[in-house]
Amino acid sequence: MDIAITGTPGTGKTALGEELSRRGHTVLSVRDLALEHECALADGEELEVDVSSLAAKLHGHTIGLREPVFIEGHLSHLLPADMVIVLRLSPSILKERLGPRGYGEEKLHENLEAEGVGVCLSEAVETGLPVAEIDVDSMSKDALATLVLELVNRCRGSEALDPYVPGSVDWLEEVSGWY
Ligand SMILES: Nc1ncnc2c1ncn2[C@@H]1O[C@H](COP(=O)(O)OP(=O)(O)O)[C@@H](O)[C@H]1O
Ligand SMILES: [Mg+2]
Repeated sequence: MDIAITGTPGTGKTALGEELSRRGHTVLSVRDLALEHECALADGEELEVDVSSLAAKLHGHTIGLREPVFIEGHLSHLLPADMVIVLRLSPSILKERLGPRGYGEEKLHENLEAEGVGVCLSEAVETGLPVAEIDVDSMSKDALATLVLELVNRCRGSEALDPYVPGSVDWLEEVSGWY
């Protein structure tokens, strides 16, 4: 079973991946997969991943045959998987977390807006895969990893994911305060 961990930059995907890996699970990053499959282009300092060619190369292959494999990264929901976990973080907290990344004003606002309206979530839902949406605002890395493993087990047993279903997180009140 392959599980995509997605969310706006800064929501905590890498930190969650580190915790899952610490607990003995296999965690790959979209970035590493892209490098391995030659689907990454150096774009100045950053690495630009060609997600559609990577998706095409991975199509029909399950990476985690014997055990669940987690694939973390902003665009992981566009890769073939069996389940998608979407991390949601309120834009006000996200803004603080993105501070140290030194993004320019435009890039910062792009990300805050994307989180505000739930871009990753809608794209994840469009895949038709089982999706779990988690509000990580006041969740420790440890509690989050435990919850994610529980949701993966539920998904494997075809059990319901409620209350972590798409639509359970809504930043509308906060976003409307921006205008
Ligand atoms: N559950 C959490 N609680 C508090 N801080 C967190 C949590 N998860 C991540 N962080 C912090 O938020 C920042 C962004 O996390 P990171 O995992 O790099 O996000 P992403 O990989 O989604 O861009 C880091 O400074 C990280 O230490
Ligand atoms: Mg990351």
